Amino acid sequence: GQLEKGGFPHFMLKEIFEQPECINDCMRGRINGTLHEVTLSAVNDHKEQLLNAQRFVIVACGTSWHAGLIGKQLIETFCRIPVEVEYASEFRYRNPVLTNRDVVIAISQSGETADTLAAVELAKSQGAFVYGICNAVGSSIPRITDSGSYIHVGPEIGVASTKAFTGQVTVLTMFALTLGKEKGEISTADYNRIIDELLQIPEKITEVLKQNESIASLSRIFTYAHNFLYLGRGYSYPVALEGALKLKEISYIHAEGYPAAEMKHGPIALVDTEMPVVVIATQNAMYEKIVSNVQETKARKGHIIALINKQDTVIRKIADECIEIPETLECLEPLVTTIPLQLLAYHIAVCKGKDVDQPRNLAKSVTVE
Ligand code: G6P
Repeated sequence: GQLEKGGFPHFMLKEIFEQPECINDCMRGRINGTLHEVTLSAVNDHKEQLLNAQRFVIVACGTSWHAGLIGKQLIETFCRIPVEVEYASEFRYRNPVLTNRDVVIAISQSGETADTLAAVELAKSQGAFVYGICNAVGSSIPRITDSGSYIHVGPEIGVASTKAFTGQVTVLTMFALTLGKEKGEISTADYNRIIDELLQIPEKITEVLKQNESIASLSRIFTYAHNFLYLGRGYSYPVALEGALKLKEISYIHAEGYPAAEMKHGPIALVDTEMPVVVIATQNAMYEKIVSNVQETKARKGHIIALINKQDTVIRKIADECIEIPETLECLEPLVTTIPLQLLAYHIAVCKGKDVDQPRNLAKSVTVE
């Protein structure tokens, strides 16, 4: 009923708005801002297995798989250990090469997804150490993994995952920082700076949430659309995939996420006046590259919705619509840029009169394969 939705019309919107608090809950007791220390107790308890890992293999499905793609970049950057990210449903059936020096990370909100659970069982039977990143306490995956960290974001009811995604990315960030520090692969200056910035993420999400009304009015333009393209590079590429997934899940508009530079090898053929193109164009190391991707899109008359920083002047002039994103470190940007894409999908679906909390054909927890 209305009461459990805390005054919000849908669980999804409530869960989107809970994210500043959820991320604080997720970091609580794990980050000490004064001492500049991140401690995931499970990482400490299994230092030896984790430090000696020759490779990480992340297994997950859906939104959790997108969090895994961000985790890959975080772990490779800060720990310098190679990471593969696999769909659990593919991994489990292809006789994967695994050794006892591989660490498998299973990411699952529900902890009950049949394919992810089977991937964990397979990994264990091959002697790999398995680390779980789950939300539902006491669910099947955390019960059979060797170790793991809960994301502590509270029950997620909306079928389209929102706060679990940002919680998973927060845990993966803390995981990479804890291990990277132990491995000596991250400088003290970087480590301290990332911790300071991570602690500010909840406030920055609150800033983005203040644009809810303007995102809602912007969304009305797009109810006509049959296709959407989402583009991003680096850390923003998985965010583009996640933005596209949110839109298709609840609005039933076909959407595709793509690495912005790869667009010229296919999707650009689809761009015309009828094609909204969402571009994550924050001012990081990839900015200049993204500018030219936006110009290529504009030249084909795509309708551009850009996520930009306040001081942006270049993309602001080319894009048709802009959403402002508070500045943060590149490696933490997904935690902020994901929020407006959740809101965009939500409002487009609401405008189209769709049941956002219970989209057709989808289940919250897929316990059959
Ligand atoms: C279903 C849900 C998605 C979720 C996926 C994986 O498809 O609708 O929101 O991302 O399963 O679920 P898990 O619980 O393993 O994260």
